[in-house]
Amino acid sequence: MTKIAIIGGTGLTKLTNLTITQREVHNSDYGEPSAPLLRGMLEDVEVIFLPRHGAGHTIPPHKINYRANLSVLQQLGVQNIVAINAVGGISEEMTAQTIAVPDQIIDYTYSRQHTIYDEGLDEVTHIDFSNPYCETLRQSILSAAKIAKIRVIEKATYAATQGPRLETAAEINRLDRDGCHVVGMTGMPEAALAREFGLCYASINVIANKAAGRGDNVSEITITEIEENIQASLENVKRILEVLIKNI
Ligand code: HPA
Repeated sequence: MTKIAIIGGTGLTKLTNLTITQREVHNSDYGEPSAPLLRGMLEDVEVIFLPRHGAGHTIPPHKINYRANLSVLQQLGVQNIVAINAVGGISEEMTAQTIAVPDQIIDYTYSRQHTIYDEGLDEVTHIDFSNPYCETLRQSILSAAKIAKIRVIEKATYAATQGPRLETAAEINRLDRDGCHVVGMTGMPEAALAREFGLCYASINVIANKAAGRGDNVSEITITEIEENIQASLENVKRILEVLIKNI
């Protein structure tokens, strides 16, 4: 049974080092996932790949059916999920093309279907979310990065914003005061739903740009800049994934 899935974000709608053996259409009690799942082999290990924004990168962060995505992965018996998220760097060390493995989250999103515990309940259910990422998987990612000799920042607080617009400089100042180091639009409710579904979930953050008003971005952040930095970081992400998958 496939134990590991990768949820790819912006710039990672396919994994070039994945040899695809099957393309599978699945449905869930929560509706359809973002795209058919790609089952394939990476380093002789079976892996499932799901592009979060759809196969053609058409689903914006607030419209992603996070519940369906996590539900189908759980139905298939996946135990570990590695999420790849593009982010803006808030703190000084979070420069473009750096990779961070976050350990905390602050959720600023709203109006998303963010829980499976909202209807037809036998009992009101509250999950523990003190440590939002699976520490075992987080440590495995850190070890894989070490083996692959890729520098990663080992802890970060991820600010999940609603999008799809980028933030204002004042909003970034507020996130900074709140203690956030990176900002992205897709980390929540994905992480919380993974916990509700009982899945071991961790994330690799690719810093695509300096957040609004930081660094040289005094005027504007461009999509070209974001895409170019993600593309330039993908080789390192793939190398971490290759080692991780072999060792997990
Ligand atoms: N803000 C939010 N999400 C992002 C950013 C950003 O600056 N860069 C890439 N994803």
